[in-house]
Amino acid sequence: MGVLDNKRIIVVTLAGVFGCVFMSSILSKYFEQIFKQKIDYSDLNIARMDGGGIQNSSNLDNKLILVNAYMRSGSTFLGGLLGHQEKIFYFYEPLHRMISWNYLNGTNVCKYTEPVCTERPGVRDEALDYLEDLFKCTMRPHENKFNEKLHTEEKLAGSKWNKFRNCRKSSTIQSCLELMENDCRKYNYRSMKVLRMSLNDSVLLLDRLPNLKMIHLFRDPRAIINSHIYTPWYKEHTKTSENDIKTNCHRIENDVIAALKLTKLYPERLMAVHYEDLYGNFQKLEKVYNFTGMTVTPGVKRFLHQESSKKFSGTKNVKGHDSRFKYRATLSFETVKLIDKHCAKALELLGLRTYSSASQLKDFKVNPVINKLPFTIE
Ligand SMILES: *[C@@H]1O[C@H](CO)[C@@H](O)[C@H](O)[C@H]1NC(C)=O
Ligand SMILES: *[C@@H]1O[C@H](CO)[C@@H](O)[C@H](O)[C@H]1NC(C)=O
Ligand SMILES: *[C@@H]1O[C@H](CO)[C@@H](O)[C@H](O)[C@H]1NC(C)=O
Ligand SMILES: *[C@@H]1O[C@H](CO)[C@@H](O)[C@H](O)[C@H]1NC(C)=O
Repeated sequence: MGVLDNKRIIVVTLAGVFGCVFMSSILSKYFEQIFKQKIDYSDLNIARMDGGGIQNSSNLDNKLILVNAYMRSGSTFLGGLLGHQEKIFYFYEPLHRMISWNYLNGTNVCKYTEPVCTERPGVRDEALDYLEDLFKCTMRPHENKFNEKLHTEEKLAGSKWNKFRNCRKSSTIQSCLELMENDCRKYNYRSMKVLRMSLNDSVLLLDRLPNLKMIHLFRDPRAIINSHIYTPWYKEHTKTSENDIKTNCHRIENDVIAALKLTKLYPERLMAVHYEDLYGNFQKLEKVYNFTGMTVTPGVKRFLHQESSKKFSGTKNVKGHDSRFKYRATLSFETVKLIDKHCAKALELLGLRTYSSASQLKDFKVNPVINKLPFTIE
């Protein structure tokens, strides 16, 4: 091959490369526009006819899973199920350090326990970029957002991070993150749980990552609030219980409304579940697992059986009762009334009963579910 031929090849190649870059920038603008239309799902028919933007399904080998939930909603349980397994690489609450006692709602950053939001438009994109990078095992550029402490606790982040903990005894965080990046890339299954993002915002990740699936976890707000009250580290961050109730229920209400629409739009990529529906039910847990596209290995099966046997274990004051609703034994009727005041809509949307009296609250024979939970797994 002559010099001239080589030059020609280079020119052709360069033209090709520029062509591709040019095309892909046009295409990405195009998809961006489509996506903007689509996420405005006020008109479902338009969204349905539109072929671009978020795809309904994916068959890629890499499976990415995002668990979106609230503090004290059973997320450790679900995160464990979808994160602490042999074949999965797991990130534990990556937004914990970045926005700590806040959550993202559109262009607002809102306080977790107070009904106060501040307009901070750049933060959501920064968070989305960060989560996208983690799913791709790129960790080092995010050292300042990464919560090192959580990832050195085996019971939170899982045993795959033990290597990181040991590494940190003698090396810099950058070199230890590099080790973990290499490990992460060996896993086809990667998952994380996030407790600080409204569903409307996390769903934007579906567009960025075609092989991502999301599970949004709901739970009876009274169980969540009960746990807030009895968890010292949470209680310390609460000014008044009423504000905590108001803030959490407003958020849950918005997420249920979003979930009702979005699960219909993306049935193969977004699943909303109820803790009350899943907990203690082997078959339903297996269905969630199947939804993610991950194989139920014998190890996972064992884990599921173990988890499903806990349903009626109960604690001291609720022995023999259904442990999913044990808040009924500890929550005062005054607090329940306060929850009714701020959570009426959320409770209604979630298909849950409001208790008419203290005795009804304490009577475990009265079913807290009125008819059926809206996101029941059939
Ligand atoms: C989140 O923002 C939307 C508007 O974008 C607003 O309607 C909603 O009330 C907000 N939700 C919360 C929980 O602040
Ligand atoms: C979710 O986002 C859409 C489009 O941005 C908006 O119309 C809708 O009000 C939002 N819903 C909630 C519950 O925040
Ligand atoms: C995805 O598929 C379901 C039917 O399986 C359909 O109802 C829904 O509109 C589709 N969503 C999009 C965005 O195409
Ligand atoms: C999950 O998927 C496996 C394999 O396809 C299947 O055998 C099993 O019955 C499914 N489980 C449920 C609960 O649907």
